[in-house]
Amino acid sequence: MKPYISVVVKPTLFCNISCRHCYHTPEERVPGEMDYATLENLIRKVSEEYESAWFIWHGGEPLTVPLSFYKKAIELEEKYFGKQSFRYGNTIQTNGLNINRRLMSYCRTKAINVGVSYEGPYNNVLREGDVEKTLGYLSDKEDKYSVSCTISSETASKQLELYRYFRDRGTNVSFSPVIPAGCASCNGTVPDADEYIKGSIEAFDEWLHDSESEVPLIPHYLYILNYLGEPTPSDCAHTSCLTKWISVNPDGTIYPCAKACPQEYCMGNINEVGSISEAFQSEGFRRILLSSIKRREKCASCEIYRFCNGGCSMDAYHEGCVEDNGGDSCRIFKEVFTHIADEIQGILDTKPDMNGYNPFVRDAIIGKLVNPKTIVQ
Ligand SMILES: C[S@@+](CC[C@H](N)C(=O)[O-])C[C@H]1O[C@@H](n2cnc3c(N)ncnc32)[C@H](O)[C@@H]1O
Ligand code: SF4
Ligand code: SF4
Repeated sequence: MKPYISVVVKPTLFCNISCRHCYHTPEERVPGEMDYATLENLIRKVSEEYESAWFIWHGGEPLTVPLSFYKKAIELEEKYFGKQSFRYGNTIQTNGLNINRRLMSYCRTKAINVGVSYEGPYNNVLREGDVEKTLGYLSDKEDKYSVSCTISSETASKQLELYRYFRDRGTNVSFSPVIPAGCASCNGTVPDADEYIKGSIEAFDEWLHDSESEVPLIPHYLYILNYLGEPTPSDCAHTSCLTKWISVNPDGTIYPCAKACPQEYCMGNINEVGSISEAFQSEGFRRILLSSIKRREKCASCEIYRFCNGGCSMDAYHEGCVEDNGGDSCRIFKEVFTHIADEIQGILDTKPDMNGYNPFVRDAIIGKLVNPKTIVQ
């Protein structure tokens, strides 16, 4: 058995809103749900080949599908992976508009993570609907969720303000830029790379010295762990994800990535392939893999290649070509990661009093200093 896979499942491509930046176009966001036979095929085939799997329920808007669908999914996971086997986990990634106490209570019972896409005070820059109203129904203590904050041209310079907003609410937050795909390909929502870099570093610098902060800042915290040599440290874009992720559409078609992956990289259909391995032997997967290898060959001389792994193939695709590096996502990672690495190396070299630092950084650094064998720099 292979050790682990991340499986993005899109139970529907339909959405209850129409975000300005969505990489799925309105024509793609059509009604229609994954049927139970497809769901069962998927969960069974994953369980037969992988020791463990993380299912990320995505879309479209996954919470336009009734709770009974997720109850069925969990039932199937329990059947094929084994109840309480710790072989599987789940995250629902939602725009939050259909969140309610009943759903959150079920998620708590079944240890399902809930991720809400939400830009705090700037939510209406990209999205419609009053998610604050929904989130207001939840209790801070019991209904824990994390936030994915998608940064646009209008919020690139406001990342520090956004970090403070979520920190003050004790909410874990991850930032990522709008990529030029689907609706965002030509409507001005993609942030300027230099502004994004500046905003990202400003937020990081405050978080780094925020000794009272109770939240990790993502991806920055993951970059620190990556620099310190943790074994599974980084975000999906920088982990060489091909062969470790699949994304499955409502009709069962399989793609190597969830980010508006084009037809040319389709890996077949879960109802037709005999196994997940067979999907990885498809022409579509071979195509993206070969193009991605060509891009990585161009990255060979990059000083931070071992931390970046050549970045995300879909980001490169939407920025021009899967075979090329040097686009905005490459520039952003280079600048932000190098800044973070310099700060962390400075701490390792000078061993300052760590009390003035963020507790997450403090623990990561002290862990490494106590166990110096794991420092790989
Ligand atoms: C496609 S949505 C699907 C799940 C759900 N509807 C939601 O909004 O969370 C998943 C995430 O992708 C992000 N996203 C959509 N289009 C994007 C783009 N062009 N660039 C970067 N992120 C994007 C959304 O902001 C959201 O956080
Ligand atoms: S980003 Fe999510 S909520 Fe927004 S339109 Fe796309 S699928 Fe819907
Ligand atoms: S930062 Fe850019 S050039 Fe360096 S490895 Fe990543 S994608 Fe390649």
